[in-house]
Amino acid sequence: MINKIKSLLDQIDGLSASSADEIEALRIKYLSKKGEISLLMADFRNVASEEKKAVGQLLNELKEKTLNKINDLKEQYAQQDTIAPGIDLTRTSYPEEVGTRHPLSVVKNEIVEIFGRLGFSIAEGPEVEDDWHVFGALNFAEDHPARDMQDTFFIQSNPDIILRTHTSSVQTRVMENSKPPIRIICPGRVYRNEAISYRAHCFFHQVEGLYIDKNVSFADLKQALLFFAKEMFGADTKIRLRPSYFPFTEPSAEMDISCNICGGKGCPFCKYTGWVEILGCGMVDPNVLEACGIDSKVYSGYALGMGVERITNLKYRVKDLRMFSENDKRFLDQFESAH
Ligand code: DAH
Repeated sequence: MINKIKSLLDQIDGLSASSADEIEALRIKYLSKKGEISLLMADFRNVASEEKKAVGQLLNELKEKTLNKINDLKEQYAQQDTIAPGIDLTRTSYPEEVGTRHPLSVVKNEIVEIFGRLGFSIAEGPEVEDDWHVFGALNFAEDHPARDMQDTFFIQSNPDIILRTHTSSVQTRVMENSKPPIRIICPGRVYRNEAISYRAHCFFHQVEGLYIDKNVSFADLKQALLFFAKEMFGADTKIRLRPSYFPFTEPSAEMDISCNICGGKGCPFCKYTGWVEILGCGMVDPNVLEACGIDSKVYSGYALGMGVERITNLKYRVKDLRMFSENDKRFLDQFESAH
């Protein structure tokens, strides 16, 4: 009998259970009326009287130990039960996910920052504008195609109110409201009535630059552009100015940079020309200065305007414009962290 009790004592030590049912099964096995310990208790009558004391002590020890063990298991299980399955409270917490800046913001900030180093400060204007600030003051003829319904979004009830088609409207406002010297950089969203495709969208982003002072010349413009191109695309970047036409500048030019993909050797991206166009610019037309209340005999200035999407495409080779507005995290996560 003593051996039997000892082997049961060992068994009890090693008991484990992973559900309430298993614990109950153990209780029944050892402690119920027909359980192993109860049967031993019943057998105790037959133990020789000289052994009774030792056997009795061991039996009591066994019973107590079994009761304690089963209570312990119940307690353990009850604790586990309050924690949702699969959750490990000892695990370290998830790292907080840090967002990333939108690629257009990254590039816009860089453009603004580069011009900031040349003394340009930020100016902003409304996206819902009137015809005067977007076209009239900027020397657009009444029948200029840009005013056409196909390009411009008009407000139905008042066709004088439009969504601005370019950030040049901000120059009008600043020139009207301040005296030269003026040195501003105007980032913002613009709208055009275009069918959405991989290369066109009905809204996009521009940065406009304007410098008005006494004796501002085309050479000043060219120098500022060269500085910008090198800062933005690398010190080896070359620029080229081609004559062009904008109603609000005279003379007007378009600026190309040496293709930053093939380094100017020629590739499909630059259509084997070695050059890619990045912005429009020119000397502010005297008509524009006068329309905005600035004496064109005293002051002159230059203006420039560029598309942020275009510059971003050049920097990051994004092939489909629509990705900029789809907010797909897999795309957005690839750009500069906001921290
Ligand atoms: N506003 C022009 C556009 O949207 C861009 C532009 C060209 C701005 C020449 C300028 C400039 O200031 O001088 O296409």
